[in-house]
Amino acid sequence: MKRNMIAGNWKMNMLRHEASELTQNIISGVAALTHDIDILLAPPYTSLDIVRELLNNTEIKLAAQDVFWEDRGAYTGEISPAMLIDAGCEWTIIGHSERRGILGETDSVVRKKIKASLEDGLNVIVCVGETLEQREEGKTIQIVTSQVESALKDLELNDMASFVIAYEPIWAIGTGKNATPEEAEHVHATIREITGNIFGQDSELIRIIYGGSVNVDNIEELINMDNIDGALIGGAGLNADSFVSIVKIAGE
Ligand code: PGA
Repeated sequence: MKRNMIAGNWKMNMLRHEASELTQNIISGVAALTHDIDILLAPPYTSLDIVRELLNNTEIKLAAQDVFWEDRGAYTGEISPAMLIDAGCEWTIIGHSERRGILGETDSVVRKKIKASLEDGLNVIVCVGETLEQREEGKTIQIVTSQVESALKDLELNDMASFVIAYEPIWAIGTGKNATPEEAEHVHATIREITGNIFGQDSELIRIIYGGSVNVDNIEELINMDNIDGALIGGAGLNADSFVSIVKIAGE
């Protein structure tokens, strides 16, 4: 059975004491709900340990925001899949548009990170999405298709549930603008078709989640779309009440 997913990407926010407080409030808020979804928190590296500690004995899973593609060696500043697993992560985000845009991550880097993570047993959320300019030029489908095909190239996927694709239109991230549910659904359906062509029937189990200014007011319409299996939450996930409300609505 495919479970919807709500993942909070805290980006470069939260000092350790803030991360601790936010986690505790999310845990207690979520504990009061009945839901049937996967919940993930992706704090910055510096808070992975305290968040891990607090998540023990809860159903909430720990994610990293990025990863490197080698397991060890002379790569100053990088963190490997094995290290993330050692720190208690079950998931990592890869290829977020902020990393592609600000830090110059290419499709081929993204692919290496996906491969290394899955090989080590770290589950992956890979992000794709077009810029405003690309959307206005009518290139959304072309761009997203090429990012998804590149991410999936030569990929052996034994467990479809360990691989999530997040469609995040870049112009909708942190801007308060968002794609209409229909616009998002159109892109998600295209991604679904691509995964189906590559992996066949089983690929139905790959979750395709949406991100970009998701909040308490728009989650319901988004999650009701056929091919939207959850959401990657930035800003609204930095507040426990709004994150828990999103989980509640998505889980109903
Ligand atoms: P946002 O970020 O919800 O603040 O738009 C989403 C994301 O970047 O994953």
